[in-house]
This record gives sequence, structure tokens and C-alpha cells, in this order.
Amino acid sequence: MRIDNPKVIAALPELGVELRASSALANLTSLGIGGTTDLLRIKKHDGVPELLNLLDANGVPYRFVGGGSNLLVGDGELPWVILQLARPEPDCVIDGTFAQVDAAADLGRTVTFCAKNDLGGMEGLIGVPGTIGGALRMNAGAYGMQIGSYVREVKLYRAAGRKIEILRHDQISFEYRHTSFAHDDMMLAVKLELPSKPFKEILAGIRICNEKRRASQPLGQKSAGCIFKNPPGASAGRMIDELGLKGLNVGDARISDRHANFFVNAGTATANDMLSLIADVRQRVHTAFGVELEHEVVVWNA
Ligand code: EPU
Repeated sequence: MRIDNPKVIAALPELGVELRASSALANLTSLGIGGTTDLLRIKKHDGVPELLNLLDANGVPYRFVGGGSNLLVGDGELPWVILQLARPEPDCVIDGTFAQVDAAADLGRTVTFCAKNDLGGMEGLIGVPGTIGGALRMNAGAYGMQIGSYVREVKLYRAAGRKIEILRHDQISFEYRHTSFAHDDMMLAVKLELPSKPFKEILAGIRICNEKRRASQPLGQKSAGCIFKNPPGASAGRMIDELGLKGLNVGDARISDRHANFFVNAGTATANDMLSLIADVRQRVHTAFGVELEHEVVVWNA
């Protein structure tokens, strides 16, 4: 979608927004898949309510992208513009056992930065691609921990009230890969409270998680992490593996040989290739196990 209204274009700089016309979502997502649209890079949180009022008043549909690491976007010209926070410098400020982190901060770098300040707890998230905002929205977790456990406050734009609000942790519920945030809430920043631990101890935990991840997941390849959620008490990866589906492909969309719940883009896969592969695997798992797998990856199919 192109923003062609001169009034909208003229208002953007004052709101701290940079327009990058005709951007490829394939370059903004870890799967390397997705069509083109105008990208609006947001440089100041305070301008967000006015920006969204402007877009709504002028009939410009939009969606919000964080690090694009858990996202499968459709092919071709997309019917909405993309909003993305620009990363400020610094993006993480430590105060005692609290870390005030911008939503655009890189998740892995934040884990390391906090570790260097003797704040641990998030070791399991090392190696998970994406931003703090994305991790927060879907309550990213691994190796027995989830980010929600450490959240004290979240600063966000709430479309319902059309303003920036601060929510305390007891006003948010964090479940397995799910939170109580509304779909049109935009994460802006978070205050984490983390356990004090010596750097060396945190580093040892980080190393263990890194090794486990390297041994079981296809880290060097383009993927969106796990495609399906684990059904209660079961593992989607194990079920797909048991059906002998590793290596199954539709075009360049392929089930990883290393982990059967990772579907990789082995070259120039399209969204349609990936969606066909996902539908085929869901059907096969349903036939074999009677289980309806749910997407873990967020799908934006126009
Ligand atoms: N397994 C197989 N074959 C496979 C993959 C897994 O037999 O191809 C078996 C493993 O041997 C193990 C079991 O299935 O016995 C579980 O596998 P794993 O430990 O890899 O964990 P997972 O349940 O597949 C979950 C998360 C990952 C997270 C890891 C580590 C989900 C959907 N996945 O995977 O998160 O990194 O645990 O904690 O919850 C993601 O969210 O995108 C993601 C990758």
C-alpha cells in the first residue's frame, strides 16, 4: 500500500516518523518472506497517538511489526502500511534490580546487557531472535522460563483509549505464548525486575542454553522459530518427526532436518509455499493423532 495523500506525508516528520516507501517485508522478517508496502519508522513514542489518529482519519490501514521473527506475511502488494519503532540509544537503562527497556531493543542483546550488570533470569531467551516488544506481546519463553515473569510495568499505546498508558504486572496476564494485550495494543517500553546474580553465573547459564539450542534448532537458516504451539502435554515437533516429515517441502518452504517444528525458507519460498506446507502438516497430524495444531507463528495473510 502506498501513502499518496500529501497531507499525511507532510505531517510525518513533525511526529518523528520516517517514511520508507515500498519496503519489502521479506527484508523485515526472519523467514525472508513477505510482499511490499510503505514502512513508517517511529522515532518518538509521544508521537504515536497523533500518528494513529492521522492514519485513521485518512483511511490508511496499518499493522505493527517488531523484530519480524515470529511472523509469516503474505506475498505481493500488502493492503496495510507497516509501523515499526526505531531503536533509541540507549535502549536499556539499569536502576538497581530494574531494567527499563525500549520495545525496539534486541532481545538477545538485552539479556546480555542485563547479565553484564549482574541481572539474570532471562538466560533461556538467549538466541531467540526478535525485539523486547515482540517477546512481551507473545510472552516469549524457553527452557522453563518466560519473559512475563519479570515484567513489572509496560508502557504501551492502547487503541481502545487512543492514548499511551502504563500497565502494572497485575493488570496483565501472561500465559503460554499468549498475553492479555489487545491485538491493536502497541508495546512501547517495559520495566523488568530481574534477580541479582554474578555475571559469571549468568554466563554459565547462557552457555548451556546456547548449546542446547544449537544442538536442536536450525539456527543458521531462515525460520520463524516453531510454527505450531505445543498441544497440552505433547510436542508438535516430536509428532511431526514421528510421521517422518523432516525434509518435506513445498517449493523452498521446507521442514527442518534438525527440528520438525521449524519450517525454513531454503531459498526463495513464498508465503503461499509456506502456508501450503503448514496446512498439509496440520492435516497429517490431525489424521494421525486426532490433534488440531494451532499456529505459534503469527500469520498475516491479506
Ligand atoms: N523432538 C523430536 N523431534 C524433533 C523435535 C523435537 O523428537 O524434530 C522431541 C525432542 O527430542 C524433545 C521434545 O520433542 O524430547 C521437545 O523438543 P524441544 O526440547 O526441542 O522443545 P519443543 O517443545 O519442540 C519448545 C518451544 C521452543 C523452545 C524450546 C526450548 C514451543 C512451540 N516451542 O520447543 O520455542 O525454544 O521448547 O525451551 O513452545 C518458539 O517458540 O518458536 C520456539 C522455538
